[in-house]
Amino acid sequence: MEKIEIKELGKHVDALSDIRYNWMLVTADKDGKYNTLTASWGGLGCIWRRDVAFIFIRPSRHTYEFLKSGKFSLTFFDGHMDELGYLGKTSGRDVPDKAEKAGLTPVSVDGITTFKEGRLVINCKTLYQDVLDRENFIDPALDDEMNPGNENRSVMFIGEIESAYLL
Ligand SMILES: Cc1cc2nc3c(=O)[nH]c(=O)nc-3n(C[C@H](O)[C@H](O)[C@H](O)COP(=O)(O)O)c2cc1C
Repeated sequence: MEKIEIKELGKHVDALSDIRYNWMLVTADKDGKYNTLTASWGGLGCIWRRDVAFIFIRPSRHTYEFLKSGKFSLTFFDGHMDELGYLGKTSGRDVPDKAEKAGLTPVSVDGITTFKEGRLVINCKTLYQDVLDRENFIDPALDDEMNPGNENRSVMFIGEIESAYLL
C-alpha cells in the first residue's frame, strides 16, 4: 500500500469517468461493523479551502446508517464490475456479509474499511450533509425523473479528503 499526496490524486482517478462508468464503493463503519454500496453519483473537488469528495446516498440504503459515523471511504477498482454490480443491488440489511460473498476482502485503513482488491482508496471526514429538496430543483421535471413519488430523496455528503492510498 502506498500513501499518495492528495494534490496528486488527479493522476490516479478521473473524477468524471471513473465514478460514472467504473463506479466506486462507498464504505462506512459503525460499532465494529461496516457496510458498503456501489455508487456512480459523486465527484471530487474543492470547497471551503479543502479538498473534498461529494456523494449522494438515498436514506433507504443500509450504508446511510453507517454514514452517521461521520467518516467514509471511496474505493476504486480496475474492473471487478460483476462484484460492484452485485453490491449495487444487494443490501447489507439482507446479506450482512455481502462484500465477502462477492469475493472482496475487507481491510481497515486509517480506521475505515476498504477492500484489498481495490486499486485506490480515498478516506473522508464528513463536513456537511443535506437532502436534495424538490423546491431547489430549477427544472421539476428532472426531480420527477429522479425522485418519482417524491420519496427517499438523496442526501449529499461533502467529505474532506483526509488520506488516499494505492492499495
Ligand atoms: C452502478 C450503480 C450505481 C449506484 N449509485 C448509487 C449512488 O450513487 N447512490 C445511492 O444511494 N445508491 C446507488 N446505487 C444503489 C446501491 O448501490 C444499492 O441500493 C445497494 O444495494 C445499497 O446497499 P445497502 O443497502 O447495503 O447500503 C447504485 C447502484 C448501481 C448498480
